[in-house]
Amino acid sequence: MLLYKCRWSIRIRQRSGRIRATARRSTVSGTNGEGLSHAAAASGCPYDGSAGAGNLEITSYREVEEILARPQQFSLADTKGDSEEFARGTVVGLEGGDHRQRRRLLAKIVDISQPWGPRGSLLTELFEGLIAPLRERAAGGETVHFDLIPFARQVYGRMAAALIGIDGVDSAERLERLESFMTPIIGGLTAEFTLRDLAAITRESRAARQGLKAEFFDASLSRRAAAIKQGGEDAERLPGDLITQLLSSPDGGFDEDAIFRECVVLFAASVNNPVSQIANCVNELSGWLAVNPSEAHRLDDDAFLNDVVRETLRLHRTGNPYLLRAVLEDVELSTGRHLKAGERVALHVGPANRDPEIFGETASQFDPLRAVSAPRVKPFGLAFGGGPHACLGRPLVYWERGDPPALGYLARLLKCLLTERVAVGDPARHSKQSQHAGDRFSAFDVTIAG
Ligand code: HEM
Repeated sequence: MLLYKCRWSIRIRQRSGRIRATARRSTVSGTNGEGLSHAAAASGCPYDGSAGAGNLEITSYREVEEILARPQQFSLADTKGDSEEFARGTVVGLEGGDHRQRRRLLAKIVDISQPWGPRGSLLTELFEGLIAPLRERAAGGETVHFDLIPFARQVYGRMAAALIGIDGVDSAERLERLESFMTPIIGGLTAEFTLRDLAAITRESRAARQGLKAEFFDASLSRRAAAIKQGGEDAERLPGDLITQLLSSPDGGFDEDAIFRECVVLFAASVNNPVSQIANCVNELSGWLAVNPSEAHRLDDDAFLNDVVRETLRLHRTGNPYLLRAVLEDVELSTGRHLKAGERVALHVGPANRDPEIFGETASQFDPLRAVSAPRVKPFGLAFGGGPHACLGRPLVYWERGDPPALGYLARLLKCLLTERVAVGDPARHSKQSQHAGDRFSAFDVTIAG
């Protein structure tokens, strides 16, 4: 059981409906789960108004929701000016009919029955391989501490490699090597979120792309292309990963470069958020159980684990604190707010998801038993964004239909940890990244006892 209480929740003062200004190219670097970015620790806090002028900040739930749902007037692709070289032609760089078509093609890789899907066994297998040596050490009677962040990175990083179709990511060292290329690459892909020198970012990103192609991508692509050409059993044995899907797309419209670009975007999108959120799930659950010990019986119930996940996702925004949109024409929102063509809006999902007008007076508290009754509002709020660019990976991360034994990335790993009686360790060993990096632990100590 997860018994230790330790709350790090950032208390963001609600500024419902208010717009403030932040820097046009924001104060962040690195990567996050949506292919956005880690914030630089030394940068100005987007919530204290010190970040400079440029983007208009929107924090009310209904306004964020409305903007995301109006892609004709608010574009994600048009925010990609600084990263155009890398985002062009990918799912985050397309709009309208082309974007819809791409999403349909990509939908297959997030199918429930894929090995990495909610019904698949990949996560459990990876977990077993990683926990076994720790369990063995603990069997001698020793309480073994380990850091949940790199542990979860091994799980979700290898899941991402499988989903994309990158072969040979079968050890901690290989994953580290892959990520050493990905970090600068994603820096290029998300250049609009950094104040670093654009030319340096582009240079580093181009070099890393060459390395990634040579060491990981080319061989993975060739293997699949050869199997598809050969047909028969070889082709049938291919998994339904991204590379395979794009290579065998009916319109045949993907050249090697287009496939590579989409792979990079998908990898960027799929690792960091789940890694950070599993630590938030464990932390929140442990704190809640410390206050509500009589509810511990719920831990056996998968539906309850899903409730823990959706409430954690609502409360914690682990990516860059906001989503960016470019205003394409003069617009009046249903709240009466006017926005002008050419402006950029920073949509603050964190405060929006704690909007008391939607989630009530207890909006900032973790309550997995919360009933959300506001119309059109999902229990996880806007954690996965909204509108046409809403998170493609949502069915992988959070499988809400309750058809056991299917479970999403987060509830599945939470269940594995609970089954092994992994508990929160020493809070002094936890550490958190800057608030500007989103709401995330960089180290989270847990224990496994003999
Ligand atoms: C806790 C986990 C995750 C969270 C909270 C999350 C959140 C989000 C959010 C908020 C967006 C919208 C960005 C925007 O509108 O600007 C997004 C987009 C996206 N996410 Fe996720 N994500 C998660 C995991 C994943 C995973 C595992 C995948 C892997 C398939 C994934 C793939 C994507 C893709 C491809 C997009 C871009 C979609 C598009 O532009 O059409 N995400 N995600």
